[in-house]
Amino acid sequence: MIQLTDREFHDLVAFVRSNFGIDLSKKRLLIEARMYSVLSEKKISSFTEYFSLIRRDGSELNTMLNKLTTNHTYFMREKSHFDFLKNVILPQQERTNRMRSLRIWSAGCSTGEEAYTAVMTMRDYFGPNSGWDYRMLATDLSTHVLEAARAGVYAPESLKNIPPAWERLYFKRSGDAYLLSDEIKREVFFKRLNLMDDFRFRNPFDLIFCRNVMIYFKQETKDKLVRKFCDVLKPGGYLFIGHSETIQRDAAEFRYIEPSIYQKG
Ligand SMILES: C[S@@+](CC[C@H](N)C(=O)[O-])C[C@H]1O[C@@H](n2cnc3c(N)ncnc32)[C@H](O)[C@@H]1O
Repeated sequence: MIQLTDREFHDLVAFVRSNFGIDLSKKRLLIEARMYSVLSEKKISSFTEYFSLIRRDGSELNTMLNKLTTNHTYFMREKSHFDFLKNVILPQQERTNRMRSLRIWSAGCSTGEEAYTAVMTMRDYFGPNSGWDYRMLATDLSTHVLEAARAGVYAPESLKNIPPAWERLYFKRSGDAYLLSDEIKREVFFKRLNLMDDFRFRNPFDLIFCRNVMIYFKQETKDKLVRKFCDVLKPGGYLFIGHSETIQRDAAEFRYIEPSIYQKG
């Protein structure tokens, strides 16, 4: 095992926090364990040497981010959000949205299960040839998870909460893996985006999922991001955060609807 010196650990934590929001200050052993294979593969004997490689080679930064981000997710995670989408948001949209067009963003999408579950929920609600345009944007910092999301190949654990009818409709089994159908895959556009950057979009969103991403951020970083989400939502648009998360009452113009669901005022 190659150990971080106190100085290296401090510099790495400060660098990752200021550029990507993620707080690794309690993750010293995790960093050493996850980076061990990278350093030994490159025959690098210290983290100082590795950081100078990152400065010379931008793609190496991606390798490190791919290793240090926490990407756990699965289909139908925190199901009550998909129930709220089906029972509240979609009926509201049917009544009021004459353009029949919905813009949804899965921010911190990891391997895509959240975005794909939202697409399946909408397809289930509207039916297959409804004329509704509900393509989704799904973004993440890690290029590794985005590649997996685009491929749409999943292990059985990832499907453990999915309704059996959806499993039959949208997946094909191949050995131990489940392959997601093209009709669902083509509804999601995956893109790399660092949530710490200033983001702008041509059209505002009706709904943003940012679940289990901000748990790794400091309060100040969270508040700033919540304000940025508010700026890119339509009036009346919704923000879903993880079930164990909260947002500060005065961080932005959001109305609390129920735990982990907020609406732009
Ligand atoms: C635990 S996963 C959450 C996946 C999904 N939203 C869910 O709730 O199941 C957290 C994801 O946030 C991403 N992430 C962390 N910091 C980020 C940042 N600054 N910009 C974009 N994505 C980030 C990580 O790469 C990771 O894939």
